[in-house]
Amino acid sequence: MAVKEAKTRVIKRWRRNMEVRDDVEYTDMLTTLSEGSVRRSFNPFTDIEWDSPEFAVIPNDERWILPDTDPIGGHEWYQSQSVERQIEIGMWRQANVAKVGLHFENILIRGLMEYSFWVPNGSPEYRYCLHESVEECNHTLMFQEMVNRMGVDVPGMPKLLKWVQPIIPLAAGPFPIPFFFGVLAGEEPIDHTQKNVLREGKALHPIMERVMAIHVAEEARHISFAHQYLHKRVPGLRRRQRWMLSIFVPLTMRILCSAIVVPPREFWKTFDIPRSVRKEIFFSAPESRMFLRNMFSDVRMLSYDTGLMNPIAKLVWKLCKIDGPPARYRSEPQREHLVSVAS
Ligand SMILES: [Fe+2]
Ligand SMILES: [Fe+2]
Repeated sequence: MAVKEAKTRVIKRWRRNMEVRDDVEYTDMLTTLSEGSVRRSFNPFTDIEWDSPEFAVIPNDERWILPDTDPIGGHEWYQSQSVERQIEIGMWRQANVAKVGLHFENILIRGLMEYSFWVPNGSPEYRYCLHESVEECNHTLMFQEMVNRMGVDVPGMPKLLKWVQPIIPLAAGPFPIPFFFGVLAGEEPIDHTQKNVLREGKALHPIMERVMAIHVAEEARHISFAHQYLHKRVPGLRRRQRWMLSIFVPLTMRILCSAIVVPPREFWKTFDIPRSVRKEIFFSAPESRMFLRNMFSDVRMLSYDTGLMNPIAKLVWKLCKIDGPPARYRSEPQREHLVSVAS
């Protein structure tokens, strides 16, 4: 009997948490995001001129050389390679990041479908989640087209994650909070890296430049939603749940970030890169440590704001090498600037 009552209580609480219409500020934010999705969205086949001559992928194109802000591109081992080799490595690296990105988006879409399945009638979350899924479907089309055109047969995610991924979207129904932290762990590193590259201003291949500008422009909404979603829910968790979450967050950030940023084993084997170089790039050199830390300043801010920073959690952030000061505000000015690049 007691077990049955407890079960009913858990389900009731779960249902109650899905009802958001009494929160005016939150529903207004969702309306703004949804309207933004209608007003400003991109189509991968009408907004990118794949067949125009300047978008052609041609041999020995130095614009594929990795920019300095990329941890590999900034390393002296890479810079001391021949130009042909730098191009080859640069193309593989950039194609693989696109492939990992679309793998993540694929998981995210399935998770959003699982979450929105349970959302009550009339909830504005339904509409926004579906807009976001449509955008992510377009991103996966855009990234896959880019990989195909580059002609590099890259694997994307590390093998282990490929095996684990089918269960991740299932968590979005019963455990949406950890799921949305997982979403941020995928979106923040990609967004941060792409913004760094665009800001550096190095001449990029037009495919790369266009795809990144479109992606950054739309990601601003997605990241904003995940932050607001978590801001609304995390403070209401019970103490024990919050404590467990506080440990889960830095671990997830670090694990998923490595899956995106560190190329898989094939990369190191294909280009015969010394182990010592790999270690330095990921992440023992001071610049790469900084790169890793900087990626998560917004998530640290979110963790401070929602009561997820306690002494043990801080230690885990430190052990994962992603500790540091929280951002003072989410990087709005940069995002606004980059939105204009994509117009
Ligand atoms: Fe995306
Ligand atoms: Fe996204």
